[in-house]
Amino acid sequence: MEPVKVGLIGLGTVGGGTVNVLQHNAKEISRRAGRGIVISHAAARDINKPRICQTDGIKLTEDPLEVVADPDVSIIVELIGGDTLARELVLKAIANGKHVVTANKALIAKHGNEIFSAAQKQGVMVAFEAAVAGGIPIIKAIREGLAGNHIEWLAGIINGTGNFILTEMRDKQRDFDSVLAEAQRLGYAEADPTFDVEGIDAAHKLTILASIAFGVPLQFEKAYTEGISKITREDVDYASELGFTIKHLGVSRRTDKGIELRVHPTLISKRRLIANVDGVMNAVLVKGDAVGATLYYGAGAGAEPTASAVVGDIVDVVRVLTSDPENRVPHLAFQPDSLSDTPILAIDEIETAYYLRITASDQAGVLANITTILANNGISIDSMLQKEHSSEDKATIIIITHTTIEKNMNTALEKIHALDVIDGDVVRIRLEHLDAE
Ligand code: HSE
Repeated sequence: MEPVKVGLIGLGTVGGGTVNVLQHNAKEISRRAGRGIVISHAAARDINKPRICQTDGIKLTEDPLEVVADPDVSIIVELIGGDTLARELVLKAIANGKHVVTANKALIAKHGNEIFSAAQKQGVMVAFEAAVAGGIPIIKAIREGLAGNHIEWLAGIINGTGNFILTEMRDKQRDFDSVLAEAQRLGYAEADPTFDVEGIDAAHKLTILASIAFGVPLQFEKAYTEGISKITREDVDYASELGFTIKHLGVSRRTDKGIELRVHPTLISKRRLIANVDGVMNAVLVKGDAVGATLYYGAGAGAEPTASAVVGDIVDVVRVLTSDPENRVPHLAFQPDSLSDTPILAIDEIETAYYLRITASDQAGVLANITTILANNGISIDSMLQKEHSSEDKATIIIITHTTIEKNMNTALEKIHALDVIDGDVVRIRLEHLDAE
């Protein structure tokens, strides 16, 4: 049988990795797919640039529209990132009757509903495993492996760059900027690294995970994001003393009121496996009612780990090229006409526990005032620690609370801030137990 011809758009880190993986594992891949797979046409912004891959035998162009219109190509692999040109190219590819494989999380999180609907009308597949958690086949695991479950929640370290920065700062006392520069050099970081650091990249990925876990349309605009740039050494150390690690976590939970969709720094008990996921590694915990808690771990960024997911998707598409569109796995795991309209909750409706660090005058009654405010807002204290402060007349108070509704915490913090014995802002970091029960 003739090999399947693939058109590649983007020959950067992931594009180069994809060419390499398809070339060096060609035999093994064709044994799985049932036929050969070749990249016959590829577009890059500058075709003369040095690359990490061999491009002999591939027709190169600087015009991606040429690849999308190539009649010999059945699958378009979009690896340019961004959501303007990429959206245009993907919609054109679909209109031309081509299947699409993409690693583009921003594209899927923001325009996935439109893209899947166009693909459904054309009877083509859009596969996006590489969009979430690099090489970890988490989309497939949730969409297919956990299809028998009512999924209750998921939580993940889903940005390699952010995790790499937090780990290096904690373990090697390196400064933020130098670690970020290294992540950029290694090809982990987004074109705009604030996407990594401020949680936008993780929110793109969490949006996708929540949709396939809970069967709701993609709603990136409702995700809450908070970055890691304000995490201090002091809080990392206090958290550690109390038995916690701070991770930048994406959390999505189904509750009676709706779905939580949030990315923020989070204290996690050091005893949890996910708390020990360091460097550029990613991990996603998924809790299903039948299976219990499951954990998926692997490289979340980088050329070949991401290419592993891209090539897995190409093989999937090749295997079902001739099957009826209605017999394929639905894009968002649930049949398109069975998606639910469960609302995404605003951040002040979410339920979580908290770490608070309060600097206050070291005098009688201060602690009582603070704990009274917490109690009056229905917030129960789990543990408390008073530390010496560098200035003699002040104290640092660390409080870990039980789970509460965020709006109660907001009200309590307003009242605590208004006390004249409080110095500066109270630091508040959310805390998740991630219990398997
Ligand atoms: N910038 C992303 C990360 C790349 O660091 O995780 C993979 O999506």
